[in-house]
Amino acid sequence: MKSLLSNELRELFVDYFTRKDHDFVSGSSLIPAGDDSIMFTNAGMVQFKDYFTGAAKPPFLRAVSVQKCMRAGGKHNDLENVGKTSRHHTFFEMLGNFSFGDYFKKDAVLFAYEFLTDVLGLDSDKLYITVNSKDEEGYSIWRDVAGVNEKKIFKLGDETNFWQMGETGPCGYSSEIFFDTEYSELGHKECSVDCDCGRYLEIWNLVFMEFNRGMDGAVSMLPKPSIDTGMGLERILRVLQNVKSNYDTDVFKPYINEIDSITGKSYGKSGENYDVAARVISDHVRTSIFLSAESVFPSNEGRGYVFRRILRRLIRYSLKLGISLENLIYLGNTVVIVMGGFYPEARDGFAVFEKIISEEYNKFSDTIGQGLKLLEEKISELKGEKKKIIPGDFIFKLYDAKGFPVDMTADVASENGLTLDLKKFDELMGIQKRGSRRKKEKRGILDVNPDFSVTDFYGYETLKGSSNITGILDEKGEFATSVESGNFYYVIADSTPFYPEGGGQSGDKGVIEWTGGSVSVTNTYKTKNGVILHYGRIFKDNGTVRKCFPIKAEFCVDKKIRKNVASNHSAVHLLQASLRKIVGEHVSQQGSYVDPEGLRFDFSHGKPLTDSEIRRIEMLVNEYIFSDAEVKTEELNTSVAMDSGALHFFDEKYEGKVRVVSMGDYSKEFCGGTHVSRVGEIGFFKITGESSVASGIRRIEAVTGFNYLNFLYIEEDNMNNIIKLLDSSKSDIYNKIIKLFYSHEYLEKNNEDLRSKLSDLEAERLIKLFKSVENVKYLIYKFKNISADGIKDLINALKSRHDFPKGDSAVIFISLINDEKLIYIVSAGGSIDASKIIKLINAEVGGKGGGKRDFSQGGSSFVEKINNIENMVEGLFARA
Ligand code: SER
Repeated sequence: MKSLLSNELRELFVDYFTRKDHDFVSGSSLIPAGDDSIMFTNAGMVQFKDYFTGAAKPPFLRAVSVQKCMRAGGKHNDLENVGKTSRHHTFFEMLGNFSFGDYFKKDAVLFAYEFLTDVLGLDSDKLYITVNSKDEEGYSIWRDVAGVNEKKIFKLGDETNFWQMGETGPCGYSSEIFFDTEYSELGHKECSVDCDCGRYLEIWNLVFMEFNRGMDGAVSMLPKPSIDTGMGLERILRVLQNVKSNYDTDVFKPYINEIDSITGKSYGKSGENYDVAARVISDHVRTSIFLSAESVFPSNEGRGYVFRRILRRLIRYSLKLGISLENLIYLGNTVVIVMGGFYPEARDGFAVFEKIISEEYNKFSDTIGQGLKLLEEKISELKGEKKKIIPGDFIFKLYDAKGFPVDMTADVASENGLTLDLKKFDELMGIQKRGSRRKKEKRGILDVNPDFSVTDFYGYETLKGSSNITGILDEKGEFATSVESGNFYYVIADSTPFYPEGGGQSGDKGVIEWTGGSVSVTNTYKTKNGVILHYGRIFKDNGTVRKCFPIKAEFCVDKKIRKNVASNHSAVHLLQASLRKIVGEHVSQQGSYVDPEGLRFDFSHGKPLTDSEIRRIEMLVNEYIFSDAEVKTEELNTSVAMDSGALHFFDEKYEGKVRVVSMGDYSKEFCGGTHVSRVGEIGFFKITGESSVASGIRRIEAVTGFNYLNFLYIEEDNMNNIIKLLDSSKSDIYNKIIKLFYSHEYLEKNNEDLRSKLSDLEAERLIKLFKSVENVKYLIYKFKNISADGIKDLINALKSRHDFPKGDSAVIFISLINDEKLIYIVSAGGSIDASKIIKLINAEVGGKGGGKRDFSQGGSSFVEKINNIENMVEGLFARA
């Protein structure tokens, strides 16, 4: 058997298959391009999916690749196993050979067998094979063509021997090759390939791709049988390097060694808890670098959420081992050293990682530290009571009061063999959410009224129309048979031109009128069941709504407001297109909101935009506006829309038909909102703010059209007010401010000098008032209306004097502020402890405060106790 390093192995593998007429294809990104059916690239075949299904024609019939993969989140998820075993990872590399309708089972088997036994020189006695029990052909090829003894070929079910990358897509029977490592993590002596103890290590999976699973779950035949194979690089390295764990191979050992040297412990000798933590850290730091390189940022959904979990686990285990942020960053750099040769993107990833990990570490290390302590106490209490479930109210309290993430509670629980009562937790979360929503808005209503049918929206085409009112609800969501003029209600109709708040767009305003009544609509909402609610004040109905609905009414949306909202919404699309051009394709929408006044757009990007980027973006958006392209909307089948390259949210579920909005050839997005008909109507676009909303997520705020003029007027008014205030002129204001700035600095300095002179004079008076008992010198003095800062100055002045007592000393200053509050400050030297004296004073006068041994301060509102302080402290020293 050859002993190979990772670089040599990658080379040898690619070399063998290129000699067998395979084209070398570089591995693809970790984020599957244009494929939302999976979260991360989880196998080498992902980039070739369309070749297998026939959706695209492959430029080659055979391919070989080295693919970076992630299995955390989604159908293939190893996150929970990482750390516990020697062979699971969130990020790993897969060596694979592929045939697209070219060779099939026989060659796939022979290539694999030859590569393992001849090229790598593995002992064929130690190789074991599994095939799908329905795959007779596969079985005979192994036995009769490859010549493997039938005792070493096992027939297993679909659970292990059927491969599919996600819920849909190409799939087929698989045949796995195992290597007998003769080492069981669980100490098994007698077991077989289907045992999970790690002794029989699955090294290669050959998938005989024959089927395709559609959206409806049904399986059809692929146009041509194909081959997809995958060999885990870390596992085969472990065999070749003859070590007991993937973590002992050259792709992992460097991290383990560094963790040992940071902590002063030894992997393999410092106990299982240490080993688990070292493995988790090594695994997660690699994953974090590669996710950072792909511009995934921690967030609360989708890929960002998986990344956040990984980062938090990384931080939690680092805290456990006492690894500081600096050392974590150092470990991140090790990834660049170990992997950067083959994956140059690791370098970019490191730059982003440094920032992300710093933010998350600073934000969460306290939360995690405190929460973890409470959780660990609870777990040991539960264990003591022989209980296995963490109660929902405890999980909720930990989350609600301490900000401790539930997934982390779940992680810690599973490490301790416990589960969570999530039902109770969800219930408590629901109560809290409902509570806060009721407080914030009148929107509890969105959950009710199941008795109305879906409202037909015709507001894309027109802003006016006749519709039938089918019901009126009061503010509590109850059906209203009589209404009072002047009060607020929700009006429901069978159809409407009013756009309901949603998709990041504010709801329409306007008027509804019928014989005998009208509603001034101030907002429009949509319930979960698709019923549109027109919220507003009812007038002129003389107290009663006719009991027999429907009531025919005229619906009229406020044109100007709608126009502004539409301009802002269209501008959001242009903004996204410009951002992707100027800042980069990694920009993806994380949220947006438009209303009549302006727009807000949140997007993934790791750093603030520079002034020049902001201007270039503004220029480009305005160029688009001036091009006055037509805005086109189409209703398309989801798959057609996706194939058209229209931008959409990765994690959103789209079903049936979707609406696609395009502007010129520069913007195409899935969108249900209302838009202008030509982009020229937007008029003008100006960014008014750029900020951070979460780590890795930036926010742009902007205005369009006439709102820009309003924005300018406000700026202009501000400027004019400043000019007036400073009695200056537009051209001179900058110089004037600079002058003022310097004179202010000068005055402050002067003021400081004067204050210190005054303090010096006062100190000269006070130094004489020191009393002395035995070796202790002390000074107690009462002031009126001197602030804590004033007292501190005075203490400094005293202490800087040459005749300030050396050795044991105490200065106790008490100030009565406005006859309402006492403050007391103690400065001490030598063996006297100021914080102890403050504690005693606090107790004496019902005050609060503390500090350090040399300086402490406190305060109390019991002003009448001022003399108690003096007496108590005097007593203290007199006794000394
Ligand atoms: N797609 C299969 C796997 O990942 C073979 O590459 O196991």
